[in-house]
Amino acid sequence: MKALYLFATLLWCLAPSFSWAAKIVVVPPIMFESHLYIFKTLASALHAEGHDTVFLVSEGREVPPSNHYRLQRYPGIFNSTSADNFLQSKVHNIFSGRLTPLELFDILDHYSQNCDAVVGSTFVMEQLKQEHFDLLLVDPNEMCGFVIAHILGVQYAVFSTGLWYPAEVGAPAPLSYVPEFNSLLTDHMSLWQRVANTAVYLVSRFGVQFLVLPKYDRIMRKYNIQPSVSMHDLVQSSRLWMLCTDMALEFPRPTLPHVVYVGGILTKPPNPLPQDFESWVKDTDEHGFVVVSFGAGVKYLSEDIAQKLAGALSRLPQRVIWRFSGVPPPNLGNNTKLVDWMPQNDLLASSALDYRGDEDKTADIEPRGRGFRRAGHSNTRAFLSHGGLNSIYEAMYHGVPVVGVPLFGDHYDTMTRVQAKGMGIMLEWKRMSEEDLHTAMVNVIMNKRYRERAQLLSQIHKDQPGHPVSRAVYWINYILRHHGAEHLRSAVYEIPTYQYFLLDVALVIGAGMLLIGYLFYRIGKCIQSGIGRGSPPVEKANGHCHNGIPNGKHKRNGHVRSTEKKLK
Ligand SMILES: *[C@@H]1O[C@H](CO)[C@@H](O)[C@H](O)[C@H]1NC(C)=O
Ligand SMILES: *[C@@H]1O[C@H](CO)[C@@H](O)[C@H](O)[C@H]1NC(C)=O
Repeated sequence: MKALYLFATLLWCLAPSFSWAAKIVVVPPIMFESHLYIFKTLASALHAEGHDTVFLVSEGREVPPSNHYRLQRYPGIFNSTSADNFLQSKVHNIFSGRLTPLELFDILDHYSQNCDAVVGSTFVMEQLKQEHFDLLLVDPNEMCGFVIAHILGVQYAVFSTGLWYPAEVGAPAPLSYVPEFNSLLTDHMSLWQRVANTAVYLVSRFGVQFLVLPKYDRIMRKYNIQPSVSMHDLVQSSRLWMLCTDMALEFPRPTLPHVVYVGGILTKPPNPLPQDFESWVKDTDEHGFVVVSFGAGVKYLSEDIAQKLAGALSRLPQRVIWRFSGVPPPNLGNNTKLVDWMPQNDLLASSALDYRGDEDKTADIEPRGRGFRRAGHSNTRAFLSHGGLNSIYEAMYHGVPVVGVPLFGDHYDTMTRVQAKGMGIMLEWKRMSEEDLHTAMVNVIMNKRYRERAQLLSQIHKDQPGHPVSRAVYWINYILRHHGAEHLRSAVYEIPTYQYFLLDVALVIGAGMLLIGYLFYRIGKCIQSGIGRGSPPVEKANGHCHNGIPNGKHKRNGHVRSTEKKLK
């Protein structure tokens, strides 16, 4: 009996985590390697659960081999080299003053060209069909995944590697306090900011509805994909929305049950620093150091910006380590070390026990990696970044304040949040001077408030049931166990717009009120004429009786008076 009980308990314990080994296909965007890092980390975690992950990538895209995932190749429009060249040319164009939205739109256009190439490859689609996948993960940065899932007849979930909460999810988003993506607004808006928010919202909806989605509708029509369905419906049929956002960074907003926040996938405790970095870090005891990186995606800064950065950094008492490619700026300070790669996570992690040491004992409750104590004698005072989401999560995880110079895409939204949450300062590359940058750096380093906020956000970010990767894996398993989790799906997707906004209800209530008003009027008339028979009219104007209802509205209402005339 006891054994049976034990067995039952064991079963019960195992039950929530039970899932079969599933086959999952990921459709990552064709550019931006940072997205692929996230999917690789996710694939490793899925592999540990016994799942089999396949990445759909183009021929010539360099993805390191691993036994955690397989690759399915297709003849795409880019290989690694040409994708990088394309991206660098876009960055170059943005720096030389071309309109950023136009450049981004051109990227979207290339996405859909590539989608056409994949969907058009009968061989690849046939191979994918034979795999009989259980789930497809779409990165909404590139929407081809929706189309591929539809062709394969596989259930799909969105795994957004961005911070962005798409309005297309269908969650309520009152524009009075939910800032739209790209608006650079926070959840506290003045009248004009709300006007701007509404404008950005409308332009975005218009853009998505009439410029982005039709590209994919066209592809589906071109290849006569059956059953025919609109891209809009495909987007809304996603089983789950995993977003790389986090409550530490995001503004609170209404959401839906099948939207989960899994921001911070790449965060981890530090490893010991490699020898050369370790000795450099040791030398920075007195004033600490500053980490500078504009990410792996942006290889070359414009000369002008590089010089401003070099100038401002050279005036800091801190030492500086800067991930940099290209020709070093001539005004580089003797405190600045340029490297073409750095262990960013480990460097950011050497932030500090000694620095805040005595004043902040809460640090002791934070998980500490091995390298933390080893490098604990020196510390990162600030992080100068482009505001790339992965970098910002790393900085937040380790409680390092940030100065951000966003360049394009979601960098602006990310930095808007960093600034609003008090963890850093955002500068605009177009307008900032060397002096602005220097002031911002000094501010973030000297003003304790930034560091304290960064540490607080770090605690909030970590205080969740499990690491973001394990939560993501949990939700993927959940969707698999519950066959798409229909029970999480809100009815919002089934109702037409007029019902959503209760226009029909307003009509019914309006009609009801009119009817009641009319009935009251008739009753009033009846009573009046009952009294009227016994006594002379109370008031006369132009020889006509006015009705006795003491309601100003009725008197002012010419319509009522004219019916009155007719009734007489
Ligand atoms: C990548 O593609 C370009 C042109 O599409 C080609 O010239 C180049 O050789 C390719 N590189 C590799 C490594 O395949
Ligand atoms: C760096 O340059 C400054 C002046 O620009 C000088 O005062 C300082 O001694 C130099 N430091 C080192 C380590 O050379």
